[in-house]
Amino acid sequence: MKVLMVGATGGNAGLVVPELKKRGVTVRALVRDGGKIGAARRVGADETVVGDLRNPASLRAAAEGVEGVFHINPAFAPDEAEMGVAMVEAAKATGVRKFVFSSVYHPSISGMVNHAAKQPVEEALYGSGMDFTILQPAMFMQNLDGAWSAVLKSGKLTMPYSKRAKVSYVDYRDVAEAAALAMTGTALSYGTFELSAPGMVDRVEMARMAGEALGRPVEAGELSPVEWASGSDMPEGPLRDGLVRMMTHYDEHGFPGGNALVLGAVLGREPRTLEGYFRELADQSTQTEEVSR
Ligand SMILES: NC(=O)c1ccc[n+]([C@@H]2O[C@H](COP(=O)([O-])OP(=O)(O)OC[C@H]3O[C@@H](n4cnc5c(N)ncnc54)[C@H](OP(=O)(O)O)[C@@H]3O)[C@@H](O)[C@H]2O)c1
Repeated sequence: MKVLMVGATGGNAGLVVPELKKRGVTVRALVRDGGKIGAARRVGADETVVGDLRNPASLRAAAEGVEGVFHINPAFAPDEAEMGVAMVEAAKATGVRKFVFSSVYHPSISGMVNHAAKQPVEEALYGSGMDFTILQPAMFMQNLDGAWSAVLKSGKLTMPYSKRAKVSYVDYRDVAEAAALAMTGTALSYGTFELSAPGMVDRVEMARMAGEALGRPVEAGELSPVEWASGSDMPEGPLRDGLVRMMTHYDEHGFPGGNALVLGAVLGREPRTLEGYFRELADQSTQTEEVSR
C-alpha cells in the first residue's frame, strides 16, 4: 500500500511515518519545498513530493497513484479548514480509497478556532464516499517537551493558564499507532474516535508527577493568558490570536475528558500515561547529564 502523508516534517505527525513503515506501507511525504525533503527522509519517508495545501492542483498531483492519505491540519493557519477540505477533495478526485484525518478532541468547541476549523474537514469526509477514519486526539503529551528544560532549570512547571485547570492528554505515539492501524486494516473504517489517556489532570498534579519522576520537588507555576501575551514577542496575527483564545478557554474551562475507553479499545492495550511520559523525560535528562559529566 502507498500512502500520501501530510505533516511528515511536523513534530508530531512525523511519528506516524515509522508506524506506517512497520506495517509495510510505502510512504510518500508531501513537503512544501525542496528544503524539507531531508527532514521527511529522516523520519523514514520513501518518496517525497513537493506540494502545498493552498494549491489544489499540487495536491491532486501528489495524490496520484496512492491508495491512502494521512492528513493533519497545520495548526492556527487562518485557512486551516480550507486546506483540509482541499486535501479531502483532491483525494476524492484522484480515486483515493482510504483517508485518515488527525483532527482534535472536541471539535465542536466553537470558542477555539483550532477546534472549530476541524469541523468542515470532518464534514467533507463524511460526504466524500471514501473510507474514512477520524482521530480526535486530546492535548499531546509531546507539548511537554518544550516546558521540560524550564522544569529542570527552575523546578517549576508553568503554562499560560490556571494551574487548577484540568486537562486531558494523549501521547501522540498512541495516536500514530491508531492512524497506522486505521490505514492498514478495516476495524477502524468509517469511525470517529476520541483519543485520550486516562484521567484529567491539573498542573499541581502534573508537577507532583514530574517531581516524583525526577526525585526532587517540582512546583506548579502560575501564568495567566494576559501575562503570557504581554510578555511574548510573538507577532500579531492568527497564531498569536488563536493561542490566546485557546489559553483563555483552558484558563476558564480546562480541557475536560480523559475517558480512555476508546483509545484502549482501538490499540488493544492500555494507553500510555502521563506518569510514564514524565518518567521518560526524567530518564532522558539523567542520561544526558551522565553523558555530559
Ligand atoms: N498540540 C496539541 O496538543 C494538539 C492536540 C490535538 C490536535 N492538534 C492539532 O494537530 C495539528 C498539528 O499540530 P502540530 O503542532 O503537530 O503541527 P506541526 O507538527 O507543526 O505539523 C504541521 C505540518 O503541516 C505542514 N504544513 C504546514 N503548512 C502547510 C502547507 N501549506 N502545505 C503543506 N504542508 C503544510 C508542516 O510542514 P513544514 O515542516 O513545511 O512546516 C508540518 O509538517 C493541528 O491541526 C492542531 O490543531 C494539536
